[in-house]
Amino acid sequence: MKQLYVAGAGLMGSGIAQTAAIRGFDVSLRDVDDSIVGRALDSIKKRLDSQVAKGKLEATARDEAVARLHPTTSLEAAGRADLVIEAITENFEAKRELFKRLDAICRDTTILASNTSSIPITRMAAATRRPDRFIGMHFFNPVPVMPLVEIIRGRETSEQTVATALELASALGKTPITSLDYPGFIVNRMLVPFVNEAIHALTEGIGTREDIDQGARLGLHHPMGPLELADFVGLDTHLYICDVLYEGLHDPRFAAPPLLRQLVDAGHFGRKTGRGFYRYGPDGGRLTE
Ligand code: 3HC
Repeated sequence: MKQLYVAGAGLMGSGIAQTAAIRGFDVSLRDVDDSIVGRALDSIKKRLDSQVAKGKLEATARDEAVARLHPTTSLEAAGRADLVIEAITENFEAKRELFKRLDAICRDTTILASNTSSIPITRMAAATRRPDRFIGMHFFNPVPVMPLVEIIRGRETSEQTVATALELASALGKTPITSLDYPGFIVNRMLVPFVNEAIHALTEGIGTREDIDQGARLGLHHPMGPLELADFVGLDTHLYICDVLYEGLHDPRFAAPPLLRQLVDAGHFGRKTGRGFYRYGPDGGRLTE
């Protein structure tokens, strides 16, 4: 496998494309308009430049990786891909529409993978004529740093497709785990109740946001506390995942805390909007209040 096509040049898509290009894959990175793919390519170059400046990457390796990245707005370019990874917004209708079109464009042998954090793989696969060659590959943010990929088998996913996805994850330098297509898969099933409990603790005044985050950082050795992690992931995304889990499992552990919903209603999505549980400057750095 040599040719990848990444649909969606946001944070996750550009992280996946960067990782794949560094690992020697030819990558088309697609989004709907030139300015989005242009911005994604600029941020990848900036990150690679900083790796070079830190002495962690050879300048020639950076240049070769950049040469392997092909920004595009074309869906037809997916016709050359061995495997497509979709990383667009978490919206079932948008994903279904995209997969339908990709299914018509891609070669019969091409595997379609979704980076969804919560939408059922089986449901998206059913929009295509290749549910056996459809799989979940769930990466973690920031993709170049986080070592895990969750491989999610849909109801019809073939063993061959699972084997190829496992091989690809390893070739990308990641460690894969496999999960059934069950709400939240493995990691978000564990993460959501943890973050929700932190939000309830804040709402109930048990501790300040700083106390709660410090508790997880210093007491549990987490790199980020649950509230700062929710801001980092995006409160809108966390809310979406809560709703999918609650709808799928009908278990109150997954019900969105009212404070979370209220922050999202107010447009405070976390780091990306400059405000969530904390406030952030334009460079994403946390502001002290
Ligand atoms: N993209 C690429 N690389 C990044 C990055 C980004 N956005 N942010 C940081 N990095 C790199 C830095 O370049 C640095 O690399 P180096 O060691 O090679 O120089 C390394 O990460 C460490 O960065 P910093 O020293 O600047 O900062 P920290 O040590 O504070 O680490 C962090 C930042 C890696 C984000 C760390 O805080 C962390 O691991 N946080 C937890 C992240 C996490 O849990 N992610 C999973 C979220 S859940 C998810 O994604 C699933 C979804 O479905 C919800």
